[in-house]
Amino acid sequence: MNIVILAAGQGKRMKSALPKVLQTLAGKPLLQHVLTTALSLQGKQAKAGPIVVVGHGAADVKEFLVNVSKEDSSFAKVLTALQAEQKGTGHALLQALPKLDVQEPTLVLYGDVPLISKKTLAKLSKLADGVRGQDSALALLTQNLANPTGYGRIVRDAASSVSEIVEEKDATPAQKVIKEINTGIMVLPTNSLRKWLKALRSSNAQGEYYLTDVIAMAVKDGVPIRTTQADDESETIGVNSRDQLAGLERTYQLMIAKQLMEEAGVSLADPARIDVRGTLECGTDVFIDVGCVFEGCVTLATGTKIGPYCVIRNSVIGKNVSIHAYSHIDGAKVGNQSLIGPYARLRPGADLANDVHIGNFVEVKNSKIAANSKANHLSYVGDSIVGSRVNIGAGTITCNYDGVNKYQTIIEDDVFIGSDTQLVAPVRVGRGATLGAGTTLTKDAPPNQLTVSRAKQISLQWQRPAKKEKKVEVKKTVSKQVAAKQPVKKSAKGKK
Ligand code: UD1
Ligand code: MG
Repeated sequence: MNIVILAAGQGKRMKSALPKVLQTLAGKPLLQHVLTTALSLQGKQAKAGPIVVVGHGAADVKEFLVNVSKEDSSFAKVLTALQAEQKGTGHALLQALPKLDVQEPTLVLYGDVPLISKKTLAKLSKLADGVRGQDSALALLTQNLANPTGYGRIVRDAASSVSEIVEEKDATPAQKVIKEINTGIMVLPTNSLRKWLKALRSSNAQGEYYLTDVIAMAVKDGVPIRTTQADDESETIGVNSRDQLAGLERTYQLMIAKQLMEEAGVSLADPARIDVRGTLECGTDVFIDVGCVFEGCVTLATGTKIGPYCVIRNSVIGKNVSIHAYSHIDGAKVGNQSLIGPYARLRPGADLANDVHIGNFVEVKNSKIAANSKANHLSYVGDSIVGSRVNIGAGTITCNYDGVNKYQTIIEDDVFIGSDTQLVAPVRVGRGATLGAGTTLTKDAPPNQLTVSRAKQISLQWQRPAKKEKKVEVKKTVSKQVAAKQPVKKSAKGKK
C-alpha cells in the first residue's frame, strides 16, 4: 500500500515559526507519531516507505527526517515530495502522485492527526482491500463528534450512502449541523485518484484544491464508498491550535496513565498529573507520586517508589528503590533498594549498585558507586570509582576538572571521608582510609590510616567588639511619633 502523509501546511492558527507538524506531543513531533504508525503498518518488508508532502518549513521537516533516521534506521525509508505553494490538500496529494505505485491503493494520512492507531488503519485498509483491483472501493474514516466545528462534514443521501464532503466554510446551515465529520484519513484506488486529482478545481470559499472533492467524483464514477470509525475519538483529532494541542496532550497522557495502571499494575497518585515523553516500563507495585516527568526510555523495576515532582530520563531504576521528591535523574543506573533524594541529581554515567544512598543536593556524574555506599548531603561525585561501604561526608567535592582536562578519583572499599573534603583528581584513597574533615587531598591517601590536611587550631585571648547602646534616643523618637498621631486618634474617639 502507498502511504502519503500531508504535512506541507503552515498551521497559521498555531502562531509559531515552527512548521505545525514539528510541534511536539509527548515530546515527539506530531509527524513522528504519524510516521511511526505508518511504518509499522507497512511492515519492514515494504520496499518504498511513506511519502511525506513537505512545503512550509520544508528544510526543517527534512532536517528532522535526517535526524530521526540516525536514531531509528527504519525512518531512512521515508520519502518526501515538495509542494512549493500550499494550494490545498488535493494539490498536496497531487505532488506525491509520481511516486505512487498505481497497482496499490493509497492511504492518505495527515501530519497533524497524530494519534491515529495502526489498528484503525488496518481496519480501514481492509475495507478497501476486499474489493481491490477492478472493483476498487474508497474507504473513508469518519467520526461522529459532539462538536464538529472546523471539520469537513460527511453528506449522505436518502439511502444513507456518502454523496460528498463539504468543508465548514462552504457548508449550508443545514449541512453545518451534521455531526459526522471527515477525519481526512482515507484509502483510495490509485488509478482513479490520478484522474480525480487532475480534475480538481479551486472554486470554493478558500480558493484551494480540496482533496475532499474527490468523494463526489468517486460517487459519479460509481466507485463504492465505505466508511468506518475509530474506537477512540482522540485518534482522529486534528491539531490546528495551541489549545487543541494542549488538549490532545492531556488526552494522550491520560491514555498512558490508564495503560500503566491497567496493564503494568502501577499506582499513580493522580493519573491526571504524570507526563511520559517516551517509553516507561514498569514492574508491578510501582508507585508514582504527582508531577513526575519521564523522558526517553525509563525502566522502573518492581516495588519502586517515585516521590513528587521528579524528572527521570533514559535511566534504569532497580527494585524497591525510593526516589524522593524533586530528584533529577538522567542517563543513570540505580541498583535495588537504593535511596535517592530528595533534591538529588544523577547525571549521565551515574552507575549505582544496590543499597546506595544519595541524599539531598548531591550530584553524581560519570561515576560507579558500589553497594552500601552513602553520600547523603551536599556533595559532588564526578568521574569517580567508589567502592563498597564508603561514607562520603557532607560537602565533599571531587575536583575533577582543571579547566581543560577531566581526571578520575578512586575511593576504595570501607573509606570514610569527613565533611567538607576536596579530592583533587587524579587521586586515590586506599581501602579503609579515613580522611579528616576539611581535608584538601592532593596526593593519594594510604589504606587504613587517617589522612588530614588542616591548619593547626589555635586559641587566643580576644575581646569581641560590643555594640553601643542607643536605647534612650530610640524611646524619645517613638514617643514623639506617638504624640504626633494622638490628636487624630482623639478626634476619632470624640466622633464616637
Ligand atoms: C482538512 C479537511 C477536512 C477535515 C480535516 C480533518 C480538506 C479540504 N479538509 O481540513 O475535511 O475535516 O482536515 O483534520 O481536506 N496540507 C498540505 N498542503 C496544503 C494544505 C494542507 O500539505 O496545501 C496538509 C497540512 O499540513 C495538514 C493537512 O494537510 O497536515 C490538513 O490541512 P489543514 O489545513 O489542517 O486542513 P483542515 O482545515 O484541518
Ligand atoms: Mg487540520
